[in-house]
Amino acid sequence: MFKHSLIALATLASFSVSAAQLVLNADAALDVTSGKLIKPATVVIEDNKIISVSKSNRKGYAADAKIMNLKGYTLLPGLFDMHVHLTSDAHVHGYKRLQRTTQRSAITGVRNAKRTLEAGFTSVRNLGAPGYADIALKDAIADGDVPGPRIFAAGPSLGVTGGHCDNNLLTHEHAVTSQGVADGPWAVRAKVRENIKYGADIIKFCATGGVLSKGTKVGAQQYSQEEMNAIVEEAHLRGLTVAAHAHGTEGIKSAIKAGVNSVEHVSFVDDEAIALALEKGTYFSMDIYNTEYILSEGKKAGILEESLNKERKVGSRQRASFTKAVKAGVNMVFASDAGVYPHGDNGHQFSRMVKFGMTELQALQAATINAATMLKKQDSLGSLDVGKFADVIAVKGNPLENISTLEQVDLVIKDGKVEIDLIK
Ligand code: ARG
Repeated sequence: MFKHSLIALATLASFSVSAAQLVLNADAALDVTSGKLIKPATVVIEDNKIISVSKSNRKGYAADAKIMNLKGYTLLPGLFDMHVHLTSDAHVHGYKRLQRTTQRSAITGVRNAKRTLEAGFTSVRNLGAPGYADIALKDAIADGDVPGPRIFAAGPSLGVTGGHCDNNLLTHEHAVTSQGVADGPWAVRAKVRENIKYGADIIKFCATGGVLSKGTKVGAQQYSQEEMNAIVEEAHLRGLTVAAHAHGTEGIKSAIKAGVNSVEHVSFVDDEAIALALEKGTYFSMDIYNTEYILSEGKKAGILEESLNKERKVGSRQRASFTKAVKAGVNMVFASDAGVYPHGDNGHQFSRMVKFGMTELQALQAATINAATMLKKQDSLGSLDVGKFADVIAVKGNPLENISTLEQVDLVIKDGKVEIDLIK
């Protein structure tokens, strides 16, 4: 009886209240899969889904639909940045970071999540945050408390004692160890399980030294092959994807052999590593804009002289590796490492990706459909296709002709909700 009246109520509701529809009429919409522009374009959103994408003003929407006229604009799927640290502040590096509590960083994250969304990035992978601050932020955004992108969060990054993902700034009298430090195959498995227990969506580990850590050799491998195998096997068993920070050649190869889903940075790549990535379908996630900020603003922000010296060797090599990987046809995703440089400037990397070898379309695919596919979310995100979540942005002009249009996003819709509207 009770069940029947509920069904009757539900039927009644679907007749009397029409679902909220939003109609976007623009000069064009980009189908990122085919690379074709639909001109002019109408995208209809109902609740949080895309229900139609068509050429010109089709009348197939509800009479009370809200209509937005986006003359001069091109519609694109919401962008993905596959490597950010939302809880990090680009003006606070090196010893300055020791003054920051997890709580303070979480509040920084609230500001940065908003800036990231304003830049048109509706999805991000947060690759490392102490104290699970990224997971708190993700939950707050999902609950509607604060604005921000969809976050795929890693929690604390795994790393060896004294490695890039440890904290080596203080002497042994002040022994500080980062939360993700674990040595040995069983210890790393336990760490993966702990991160999953506290809400991680993905696993990040440091395979080699890095630029911004004290006392690490950027090219040297840190985790052994056996440890990397254990991390990846444990994460995949639980259905999580894995990202490995790796600058050095041997570390890149070991990470690919272990079966990681993406390699971050990939600075000193060689032909063998590229061949391995092609064979395994591994994604490269390369932050090629970062070097400009580190070398121009880093010193002021507190980056150690030692790190600046490492960057002078890494930056140009990484860009050459990027060109080589693009030419070889390696799977690529857009990744900025924002947090090292200011959140909100993410889109500035697009023009560098084109300068160093990608077509405009390839750069856009890296930030949309490739990223969604790498996250195994290609059925619900990453393109303007019927049935997907309505994450849509608008930029002035044609981004296939001028990729710098991505540096200014005037309309951001996430999950069917207009988050940013700067259109006059
Ligand atoms: N988080 C990275 C590291 O410390 C940043 C590398 C930045 N440099 C670059 N050329 N992408 O290793």
